[in-house]
Amino acid sequence: MSDAPGAPAFDLTGRTAVVTGGTGVLGSAMAHALALAGARVAILGRREDVAQRIANDIDAKGAPAMALPADVLDPFTLEAAVDHLHDHWGPADVLINAAGGNRPDALVHGDRTLFDMPADAFRAVVDLNLTGTLLPIQAFGRAMAASGQGSIINISSMAARKPLTRVIGYAAAKAGVDNLTQWLAVHAATTWGPGVRVNAIAPGFFVGEQNRALLMNEDGSPSERGAQILAHTPMGRFGQPDDLSGTVIWLASSASAFVTGIVVPVDGGYDAYGGV
Ligand SMILES: NC(=O)c1ccc[n+]([C@@H]2O[C@H](COP(=O)([O-])OP(=O)(O)OC[C@H]3O[C@@H](n4cnc5c(N)ncnc54)[C@H](OP(=O)(O)O)[C@@H]3O)[C@@H](O)[C@H]2O)c1
Repeated sequence: MSDAPGAPAFDLTGRTAVVTGGTGVLGSAMAHALALAGARVAILGRREDVAQRIANDIDAKGAPAMALPADVLDPFTLEAAVDHLHDHWGPADVLINAAGGNRPDALVHGDRTLFDMPADAFRAVVDLNLTGTLLPIQAFGRAMAASGQGSIINISSMAARKPLTRVIGYAAAKAGVDNLTQWLAVHAATTWGPGVRVNAIAPGFFVGEQNRALLMNEDGSPSERGAQILAHTPMGRFGQPDDLSGTVIWLASSASAFVTGIVVPVDGGYDAYGGV
């Protein structure tokens, strides 16, 4: 389905969406949202069992879904995923790049000074978040370039524009994701056609698998860092995964047909707040 004027704006019926990191907290919520809007959704991640469980959950609600096991850093598994998708459903109309995250040895915190941080940890985080966004675009974007239609949505972070303490590699990588989003938006519109759009969402602070211990104490109260974040979030709460749904559907659908190259904060006002 194209982004043609007159098409039902937010309806994704007939469209195929691939969600990398679809096995994660935010990716799976975005996959459910896309399915609710009518898309058929492929759940891409390394954990095939988890991808299959999430696909089954979506399927049970009446929307077609499939597990698409692949590693976003391995072009061979990505090409196999593209072949599988094309054989079953045809090319992707929507690509959400939600695979990403940080790792403990890449933090500069406590006893680990900047000088102790292993270069390999920094490289791995930059690789996952930045190269791990580019490689799925190369794999699934080829058909978008050929057809001149598609919506790519990268997942950035609040750390991209104003770096957060501790997460040095993650912040640099997400800044790279913002830059890649703008670069590719221009490249796609001018080279592949104006029907291929590239945007990003910068989630605020959501409690996920990776950052739960950073944001919350075991009893569910906010940690010291969690409390600092809440104090800088005018809405006074962490995000719920469903808070991303409306923005994802808008950017995936023809409702945003003239929108490309932007990063949308979904953050309870964190980005707008100067702290005073
Ligand atoms: N939670 C937040 O507050 C927050 C805020 C801003 C931005 N974000 C960003 O939002 C995205 C999702 O975060 P989340 O909180 O949902 O984290 P999560 O639950 O830990 O999910 C991370 C996802 O990345 C996938 N992944 C990791 N390495 C991969 C690889 N090499 N190949 C394929 N998939 C890989 C994981 O799948 P497998 O293990 O199955 O491979 C998992 O589905 C990330 O980019 C994160 O940086 C999160």
